Amino acid sequence: MRQKIAAGNWKMNTNIQDGITLAKTLNDFAKNFNNNGKGIIIAPPFTHLYSILQQVDTNKIFVSAQNCGAWEKGAYTGEVSAEMLNSIGIKYSIIGHSERRQYFNETNETLYTKVKLCLKNSITPIFCIGEKLSERESNVHFEVIKKQLNQGLFELSPEDFSKIIIAYEPIWAIGTGKTASPQQAQEIHNFIRKLISDKYGVTISNETTILYGGSCNAANAKELFSQPDVDGGLVGGASLKANEFIEIIKAL
Ligand code: 13P
Repeated sequence: MRQKIAAGNWKMNTNIQDGITLAKTLNDFAKNFNNNGKGIIIAPPFTHLYSILQQVDTNKIFVSAQNCGAWEKGAYTGEVSAEMLNSIGIKYSIIGHSERRQYFNETNETLYTKVKLCLKNSITPIFCIGEKLSERESNVHFEVIKKQLNQGLFELSPEDFSKIIIAYEPIWAIGTGKTASPQQAQEIHNFIRKLISDKYGVTISNETTILYGGSCNAANAKELFSQPDVDGGLVGGASLKANEFIEIIKAL
């Protein structure tokens, strides 16, 4: 179901004490937030997930993982499986963040496996796609996006695909302070929606939630989120400051 969402990706930030304080502040805000179908998601580090789930109203704030393992279980030291996440009550996981692709060599094929494992364990993947600066400058960004979708998601059945959230995060905009303009975001979101429509039909395409990520903040959120194909944001740095993230939620 298509939904307006503000999702905070905390990345490798906050210790448990600071993480709980941040989650509680957001929870206090969310209590009185008339969500009207709008969703608030936070994605703290693995170590925080269980404690934070106990601290927030999980009807108002959804707690997401930032990643999950590419295997069901077994001898994969340091990995956390989708089944483990499900067993503590996690409902979402970011999959294929560009930092995972870049620093951990995650390929579209591996990510497809992770998506399948999430779905098998009732976890909604927030699947990240986006081009590098060099790809945009050489005008191959549309091809890059198409390939990421074809290889990472488009083997899914229509039923499974309908459960996915997509996040378009141009790599050149992540953590750089250089946001995509609302027009640039809309252009790619519309392109993504058209690809989904070509593959799965217009109904599924119109029902897919597509978030924008990359230097989204309280000052630019409103204009980005008002674009017809932008359904909200996947926010990094600005989601670590409660007041700023609350302003972003209000911009939905
Ligand atoms: P910033 O908002 O810090 O640019 O990060 C975006 C991001 O990577 C969210 O997943």
